[in-house]
Amino acid sequence: MPADMRARLGLTDLPNLVLSASGCAGAGRELAQFIDVARVGAVISKSIMAEPHTGNPAPRLAETPSGLLNSVGLQGPGMDAFLQRDLPWLLSRGARVVVSIAGQTIREFAGLATRLSDTAGVSAIEVNLSCPNAEDAGQPFALDPQRAGSVIAAVRGSARYDIPVFAKLSPDVTDIVAVASACVAAGADGLSLINTLLGMAIDPVTMRPALAGKYGGLSGPAIRPVAVRCVWQVRAAFPDVPIIGSGGVRTGRDALELLLAGASMIAVGTEIIHDPSACSRVLRELEEELAAIGTDRAADVIGQAHGRTPRGLAWRA
Ligand code: SIN
Repeated sequence: MPADMRARLGLTDLPNLVLSASGCAGAGRELAQFIDVARVGAVISKSIMAEPHTGNPAPRLAETPSGLLNSVGLQGPGMDAFLQRDLPWLLSRGARVVVSIAGQTIREFAGLATRLSDTAGVSAIEVNLSCPNAEDAGQPFALDPQRAGSVIAAVRGSARYDIPVFAKLSPDVTDIVAVASACVAAGADGLSLINTLLGMAIDPVTMRPALAGKYGGLSGPAIRPVAVRCVWQVRAAFPDVPIIGSGGVRTGRDALELLLAGASMIAVGTEIIHDPSACSRVLRELEEELAAIGTDRAADVIGQAHGRTPRGLAWRA
């Protein structure tokens, strides 16, 4: 019998709990020549801003050992184009869609949530509070619990009641539980952990920063232990809150580790750049990992590294 890999995102049943993370698969079209997007648990869009955004100057990417630095700067077509072109395409392909939103002000975030609420087919909103590359926006909202909570309160107040709101948090804080607490208190229905860590690389030949934006967000396998730690800490504090775990997932075993730490779903990001079929492969490998430990139900392992079954199982499939 096939393993039960299902998950739930608010009112949406997901066929499996392996999602594509925001930022590495655009609005899904890039994946479609390699995999059937309907078989991904859900596609999380690249963060959408209200207006088209050109992003940061090149070079925007720099490889590091076991990681990738990016300084994309939230390049994107803006919400109008996303709603007219990308969302209908994803839905026509049978994908479940989580829309990541990014804004420079609380008002912009609230406006984006309102737009999405007038639209059918949005399974959840992921609020990107943590982009390290948005120069003009100043410090990411996720670095300050109070500012993070204010954005989430505005989004939750603007989004349709049946669309779950997930707060995407930054690992670049001393106390991620404090930021998570502020978001949950402000009405977040779930949390998405983690975004990239702020990093830098210097080209020894040019003797200049490798990225035009100087700093960038570090992703890839190098950050997975940080993701595991953050998911662990937040799950320990919030046994019942859905968590999308991401950060350096390359294999089914990596996904299992995040589930054991307490993630209720997994998002695969940077690995998609190396292997565009990574979501399908990670799902298959995760099924094999579960079989090897004698279970055929992903929900059974969630949070098990805490040595107890987390209280309340409402977020389980
Ligand atoms: C970017 O577009 O600069 C990356 C977005 C993010 O890390 O949130």
